[in-house]
Amino acid sequence: MCSNKVMSERPTSRLSGFYNQTLGERLATAATWADLSDADLAALRAGLSVEQADHMVENALGLFALPLGLGANFLVNGRNYLVPMAVEEPSVIAAVSNAARLARAGGGFQAGSSEPVMIGQVQLLDVPDPQQAAQAVLAAQQELAALIDPLHPSILRAGGGLRGVEVRHLPDTPVGPMTIVHLLLDCRDAMGANAINTAAEVAAPLLESLTGGRAKLRILSNLSDRRLAWATCQIPVSVFANRDMEGIEVARGIVEANAFAWADPYRAATHNKGIMNGIDPVAIATGNDWRALEAGAHAYAARDGQYRALTDWRVVAGGDEPALFGRIELPLAVGIVGGATKVHPTAQVALKILGVASARELSELMAAVGLAQNLSALRALAAEGIQRGHMALHARHVALAAGAPAELAEQVAARLIADGQIRTARAAEIVAEIWRENDD
Ligand code: MEV
Repeated sequence: MCSNKVMSERPTSRLSGFYNQTLGERLATAATWADLSDADLAALRAGLSVEQADHMVENALGLFALPLGLGANFLVNGRNYLVPMAVEEPSVIAAVSNAARLARAGGGFQAGSSEPVMIGQVQLLDVPDPQQAAQAVLAAQQELAALIDPLHPSILRAGGGLRGVEVRHLPDTPVGPMTIVHLLLDCRDAMGANAINTAAEVAAPLLESLTGGRAKLRILSNLSDRRLAWATCQIPVSVFANRDMEGIEVARGIVEANAFAWADPYRAATHNKGIMNGIDPVAIATGNDWRALEAGAHAYAARDGQYRALTDWRVVAGGDEPALFGRIELPLAVGIVGGATKVHPTAQVALKILGVASARELSELMAAVGLAQNLSALRALAAEGIQRGHMALHARHVALAAGAPAELAEQVAARLIADGQIRTARAAEIVAEIWRENDD
């Protein structure tokens, strides 16, 4: 667990019926919960301006908007979180909020992280004596630190800097042997891509003279396995009981589903996609590089040579009853300073709602979100199947689009599903029917 957190008191994030509120009511709830200013609320509505976009990328034409919602009910390391998520896929936010609600029955999530150490790689070719080169590089760590640390005063001030050097030899590549130097840089609250790329470029000439080789690539590795985050939860199985199944049956189904994804890459890809359904939207909402996270997660999932599930689920003995225990671990190279986190006005508000004190705290929360998203998918797959939930949500959207007031949306959706016709015209008829019934 991160030690330098500011564990401020916050109201509960357990928001019952949040999804039934109007957009205006939800904004008011979020504003009160996270103490948002009028300017913050305006930023949520307006997002990035075209002028800002023009400064961010080349050849800018305009903006591409995504819905931003709040994942509710999260309790991580005893702290309440509302989680801003930018995502186009319906049901992701509802599903993760539901899983976070279930996890509260077991005290929420416990999460932790390693120090935020990024890896920069320098590729060295034509090294005459790889063994002697490795010794020379390892002996030069202080010299390398003296070169690299002054490049990043803000990282140094925050307590980061070069933490180590590693040398790997790749004896057999299509172009012959090569020596790879890893620079391990603690980036503190920055994601650190620029810092680590600069470090690799500045270190390359010294590495060439130490090894007698020719430096080519100088770039970070997105397999940031020195910057891991993990989360666990332990939930009494009775929480999973439904109309048709005992809680223990559902829990065993979740364990069986996880075993499938552990053993089969075809299933693991979908399983891990479901995890990233939760993690990517938080990365996008906070202005983090979600492609870097995707690359790191999938490479880490294949670290033993087979692509596997990033999670582990098992049934364990609990207090009064068995419990479902889940764990996730993955690289999560995220920052809360610099880059788009600083430039994007919505990312600033998202970070304010999260109230995280460090990049490590953000990564821990994101690990918990990934575990929750996976739990919601496996729970549905192990019980009623994924489509029922999707249909329920779709029917609710159709009901609202047909003009059903929020308080009738569930009822209209239920009738649409019972009819087997989820169409706007039918929804409008049902709304009229309900009004007539209420008048009688
Ligand atoms: C859909 O976006 C994600 C799921 O396919 C994940 C899974 O199968 O575990 C439901």
